[in-house]
Amino acid sequence: MNKKAIITSALPYANGEIHLGHVASTYLPADVTTRFLKLNGVEAYYVCATDDYGTPILLQSEKEGKTPAEYVAHWNKRDYEDFTALNIGFDYFYKTSSSENIAFVQDVFQKLNDAGHIYEKEIIQFYCNNDKKFLPDRYVKGTCPDCKAEDQYSDLCESCGRVPEEIINPKCSICGQPPTKEKTKHYFFKLKNFGDSIFKWLDENEHLQKDVKKYVQNWIKSGLIDWDITRDISWGVPVPLDAAEGKVFYGWFDNHLAYISTAIKFLNDKGIDGKEFWNSADIYHFIGKDIVYHHFLFLPAMRLGINSEYKLPDYIPTRGHLTLQAKKISKSRNWYIGLKDFLKNYRADYLRYYLISINPYSQDDLNFDWNDFATRINSELIGNLGNFVNRALGFTKKTFDGIVPETESFDEKDTEAEQKIKSLATDVGLLLEQNHLDRALKKVMEFSSFFNQYFQHKEPWKKGPGTANCVFLSVNAARSMAIALFSFLPESAQKIWEQLGLSGKIDELTWSDMSELGIPSGHVLGNASPLFAKVEASDIEILKKQLGPSE
Ligand code: 2FM
Ligand code: ZN
Repeated sequence: MNKKAIITSALPYANGEIHLGHVASTYLPADVTTRFLKLNGVEAYYVCATDDYGTPILLQSEKEGKTPAEYVAHWNKRDYEDFTALNIGFDYFYKTSSSENIAFVQDVFQKLNDAGHIYEKEIIQFYCNNDKKFLPDRYVKGTCPDCKAEDQYSDLCESCGRVPEEIINPKCSICGQPPTKEKTKHYFFKLKNFGDSIFKWLDENEHLQKDVKKYVQNWIKSGLIDWDITRDISWGVPVPLDAAEGKVFYGWFDNHLAYISTAIKFLNDKGIDGKEFWNSADIYHFIGKDIVYHHFLFLPAMRLGINSEYKLPDYIPTRGHLTLQAKKISKSRNWYIGLKDFLKNYRADYLRYYLISINPYSQDDLNFDWNDFATRINSELIGNLGNFVNRALGFTKKTFDGIVPETESFDEKDTEAEQKIKSLATDVGLLLEQNHLDRALKKVMEFSSFFNQYFQHKEPWKKGPGTANCVFLSVNAARSMAIALFSFLPESAQKIWEQLGLSGKIDELTWSDMSELGIPSGHVLGNASPLFAKVEASDIEILKKQLGPSE
């Protein structure tokens, strides 16, 4: 394992609240992975930023009578608060409109330009005579020229995942009128130049998901098109050329560069050489499948275009979209659940547990279902894990005054239990290293289930021979579980730790500590109390109606 890592997750647009869909595919998996790496002694930093530029943000700020800078500052603060409430532990949360990112983007552009990867071209652009605006990207919708799906954005077909060359039957999405076409000069990035080198990079990188690689390689085979990287609006990173006055970069030119500029700013401020760190670390970019094109083509091409001065990613974990009650999440149709609202009702760990459990390392979509949420929390988190911890600690309290007893020689069942503790770090760790967060969490739950059965089998309440061993091993299993759970459910893990009467914070330990019998005989436990409260069916029925999802 590389001892340095930088982790990023897709930057949220500073344009509305974070909802469960955002959290499931990127922020939560990235957070779990970062916590895991840190426990393994990796110097890992999780950096993120709001994605501040673009037409939607400009138009919305105008609507609200704010400057775009005021508008994005509001969402930057709010997003950070919401993420923090879910215990998403960013080491640094910044913004694409930072002075550092602006300077960095302009510098990258200059280098690409000097290297001959940029050219100017007069283009015909959509213009809405009604709204008196050039209409970029999201503001023109029509039929995808590649797969013929209707009602697709001009810069992204959500049906086939391509960036269309020219959308068919365009309509202005502000007023619905067909736009006219006007001449304007734009700058283009020669993406075509990079097909072969990206293809090779994909072949050589064994950490990227095979199926994603394959369809990106198919895109390359079917021919890449050069990329229009400028826009005629006032809110964006200015193009640093005299001839380009009034032009800014398209958001997708500058936003992923903020992965680098944000990490470097953070590291340099800490007194670490940011560039050197970036180039010697493992780089992870967590994304949802809708932005594969951008992360597997635009991003590597731009880094290759400046001679890999900043290394390309090692991992781009790509996950599917969250649907809500089996329907696509849509903010405009009010079919979503805001993170803040959810957390007013249930603790962060309930959501973390549910979303990790249902989220495989693949591009398959996953579904948030209220009833399934209640069932999993009640039967798995509470019925299995909460029950074991409470039972083991409660029994020790009652029968041994909370003092862990001296052991006798282990019988076969005890030895099996001890073995489970010894192999836990490897069993869970291997899956986490491979990004299978759901399966790793399941392993911890299987461990808990094993110990529930072990406790039941030993019948310590009969106070027969072997009772002390059962208590000793169960209490130690709870300790191991707390360390294993910390990456997934940090609050609950810390709570178990305190109930065990252990001091300090779990994040000061190392991953392999979970495979030790770390609680000696004679240790005094803290106070045991139930870790979780049941999710009531009646509350779920109310929330189904209350939280967004109403048609
Ligand atoms: O699709 C989005 O929500 C974009 N804001 C993601 C940007 S990620 C980038 F910075 F690479
Ligand atoms: Zn219009």
